[in-house]
Amino acid sequence: MNSKKNGFVIETFGCQMNVNDSEKVAGLLRAAGNVAVDDVRDASFVFINTCAVREKAADKLFHSLGRLRKLREENPDLKVGVGGCVAQLSGTAILDRAPDIDVLVGTHNLARVPELLARSRKTGERGVDLDRKADTFSIPTETIAHTSPVRAYVTVMEGCNHVCSFCVVPRTRGTEVCRPADQVVGEVAELVARGYPEVMLLGQTVNAYARDGLDFAGLLERVDAVPGLERLRFTTSHPEHVSERMADAFRDLPRLCPYLHLPVQSGSDSILASMRRGYDRATYIEKAALLRDRRPDLVLTSDIIVGYPGETEEDFAATVSLVDAVGFEGLFVFTYSPRPGTTALRLVDDVPEDEKLRRLKVLNDRQQRAQTRLNAGWVGRVERVLVDAVDAEKGRVSGRTPHFRIVHADGPASLVGRTVEVEILGSGANSLTGRILPVG
Ligand code: SAH
Ligand code: F3S
Repeated sequence: MNSKKNGFVIETFGCQMNVNDSEKVAGLLRAAGNVAVDDVRDASFVFINTCAVREKAADKLFHSLGRLRKLREENPDLKVGVGGCVAQLSGTAILDRAPDIDVLVGTHNLARVPELLARSRKTGERGVDLDRKADTFSIPTETIAHTSPVRAYVTVMEGCNHVCSFCVVPRTRGTEVCRPADQVVGEVAELVARGYPEVMLLGQTVNAYARDGLDFAGLLERVDAVPGLERLRFTTSHPEHVSERMADAFRDLPRLCPYLHLPVQSGSDSILASMRRGYDRATYIEKAALLRDRRPDLVLTSDIIVGYPGETEEDFAATVSLVDAVGFEGLFVFTYSPRPGTTALRLVDDVPEDEKLRRLKVLNDRQQRAQTRLNAGWVGRVERVLVDAVDAEKGRVSGRTPHFRIVHADGPASLVGRTVEVEILGSGANSLTGRILPVG
């Protein structure tokens, strides 16, 4: 065992917000003298940042803990931390199932991980902090260990004031808290100064942002004006908060990329009502049309839940027809999973699992075909690709177009972080290939 004294590994499940939270924990651990390592066998601390949104995601925690228990037999000094949404939701009840957790923090107390770890190393005492009142926004930009060399996540609001019947997030992340715009703009300016060309603003319902008289469109305007920023994106938006002003932002702001993830969940009015989504099918279609009116090339992607309680064949057909009508360039389809403390728990989970999976497959297959067709439409165009990854062995790089399409092309590692012009030569269902054009 060559276990490093201060090596740590973070395992992250779930959404971009969790990725951003893990970046904060990694940065804080580093600032406290710990070192990120790639292999858990070289670590003396493993932190698992959990997701509670579906049962399968939550179960991953216990799989990870099982694996770590084996590692611990070889390395008894290994400390284990658990944080994020499962921790917040289950609280200390997790300890009944996993008494060997050394550090347990909720969604708001990540900043305390280094201190609780140090104490546990010193005294053997378990550190627990599940308090929701802590401030999660004030971690200095330079401390955060950003994963991408190109796209920096910036959390602008946390929590959710909606009451979607199926969703556990309001219980894990709490109610909406928006970050002061000056703090957001300051962080973006600093990120640009540190060489990040792109930022992605994060929030559970990011376009509900409102603080000190500024709405979301106002926040976008201020961030877009940060000198030197090349690309601006945000996620996740809620259809109810898509306003004229937000649509205008897609027309007016030069750095705001023409890409929007706008979860619809279902195309059936009765299911949408039962889900308490706050809009109906027609309103969703109108909002999509409003956005495309202001930005005709806007790419839309979405989330769908199939097999929600009471979802009939007719309801499902309505979802399929909505997907066809809107034409999404990406779709994340989930089978309904009953979650603790949600109001949908009162409904009978009556769509059999194999039928849920059939509906999932129908949508995914259709979507693959649609994307194959849509992606073929990019062939022959020249796209500006911000290179964000390299496969050194194959001598290939990849990156994203403004529309968030993935492009692969031959090129050297030195291109990472640069925007290059790529002639698109090929397409598949999930990515494009092309040739980098010489500069000038
Ligand atoms: N607004 C949040 C949504 C979080 S959940 C955000 O920050 O992205 C992400 C997606 O998971 C949802 O849009 C929904 O499609 C899916 N989802 C949420 N709860 C679910 C459940 N109980 N079963 C199946 N899918 C679910
Ligand atoms: Fe969940 Fe609905 Fe909020 S999906 S995060 S309760 S908008």
